[in-house]
Order: sequence, then structure tokens, then C-alpha cells
Amino acid sequence: MARTPIIGGNWKLNLGRTPARDLLTALRASLDGIAGVEVVVCPPAPWLGDAADILRGSSIGVGAQNVYWQPQGAFTGEVSAALLAGVVDYVIVGHSERRHVFHETAEETNKKLQTVLGLGMQPFFAVGELREERESGRTNDVLKRQLLVGFTDIEPLPEGFVVAYEPVWAIGTGLTATPEIAQQTCADIRAIVAGRYGEATAEACRIQYGGSANAENAGNLMSQPDIDGLLVGGAALQAESFTAICKAAAAATV
Ligand code: PGA
Repeated sequence: MARTPIIGGNWKLNLGRTPARDLLTALRASLDGIAGVEVVVCPPAPWLGDAADILRGSSIGVGAQNVYWQPQGAFTGEVSAALLAGVVDYVIVGHSERRHVFHETAEETNKKLQTVLGLGMQPFFAVGELREERESGRTNDVLKRQLLVGFTDIEPLPEGFVVAYEPVWAIGTGLTATPEIAQQTCADIRAIVAGRYGEATAEACRIQYGGSANAENAGNLMSQPDIDGLLVGGAALQAESFTAICKAAAAATV
């Protein structure tokens, strides 16, 4: 079945306001209306309003990098899904930097997913194993736990739901997973989704690869049957490389 490929640009904690606005303007010029691929940018939180303004009426979506599940109250420093819902359509949930740098648990990731879905936004649900987990043969167990705890009380899984497979050892390291490893692990993720929600939901689920994706490897990764998109960090910070990645993705999936 046809799954619309989806490319996300995760800017992380990078770019001041002027370079951020310049990049958004350049991406609108180079990517608005691109056929065959859904394109989303996730700038730092203070620039989400700018992004929504600059990209309004274009085909490029805006996403947040994180979210808090409580709607409001005495939660200094947090941003609720309820506040984001008026500004963005996508939210990255469970990124490995949230899990490993900020000690976010799978249970917290589940609360975030439930809140984001409840408000009609599209999560990028990120999962991935550490290097030592892969080396000791525990990748599938780790992914299964992250996915199944993340899916608690989520029924049904919306069509076109996005899982981002991001091996932690490949993020920001320049060490991309080979297309074969990325493909096999994305297929394993699809099997876990099928076990939880059935074949039809798993077939409609979009699985991104993330971890040192760039303009050179995008086409090869995207031509794998179970890779339906990319979540891009470093290479999303320049208009040229992110545009090339989106174009390669569109070309690889026609
Ligand atoms: P990277 O980051 O492309 O810089 O490896 C990917 C991510 O963390 O989403």
C-alpha cells in the first residue's frame, strides 16, 4: 500500500532568530509544493510562531521538538500540547536526547503521545537503541519496550502514524546505519506494530530512519521498502542539504 513519505528537519537547539527566519524563507522558496513527500521543519520553540507565519499557506509543516502533557498550571518552563496545537501540526516525542540526556521515561513518552494525538497533532514517535544494546543483541527487545509502552492506551493507532527509528549510535556521529541495517530494523518495527495493532495498521504506519541522514545517503535509504521517511538533524540546518534530501526522497519513492 502507498505510504506518503515524510521528511522531518529537527533543528535541535540550533540557530538564532535571524538565521532561523532566513532558513525558513529559503525552504519555502525551494520546497513549497514539492510533490510526493510531506515536509516538516522543527525549529527551536521560540521560533515556532515565526515558522508558522513564514510557512503559512505553504505545503511545509511546522513541528515542535518536545511537549508537556499537562494542559496548564504550575509547570515552570514547560510547553503544553494545548498551547502548541494552535501553532504546529507535528511534535517530536521520545527523541533519544530527551530519553538519554533528560532522562525521559517510556511512560512519560506515552503520556506525551496520548496528549498530542488527543489534540489531533501528528507525533514523530522516536525510538532507538544504544550502541551497547545493538552490540549485545538486545535491539529488538529495546525497541519493543519503547514502542509498546509508548502505545499504552492508544487505540486505535491513527492511519499514517509516524515512528522515527533513530539508532542512538548514529545520531550526530556521522555514522549512518547501512541501508541494510536501517531496512531490517524498520521492518522489525513494522512487525512490532503489526503485533500490537494488526497488519493493516502496520502497513499504513510510516517509519522514518534518523541518524546522520544527508543528501548523499537519502536516496539509498529511501529506496528501502520499509523506510518511509527520514528525521534529519545536522543536515536540516542548511537549505541546500535539506532541500536535496527532500528531493531525493520524493524521487526515490515515485
Ligand atoms: P543527525 O540527527 O541527523 O544530526 O544525526 C538526527 C536526529 O537526532 O533526529
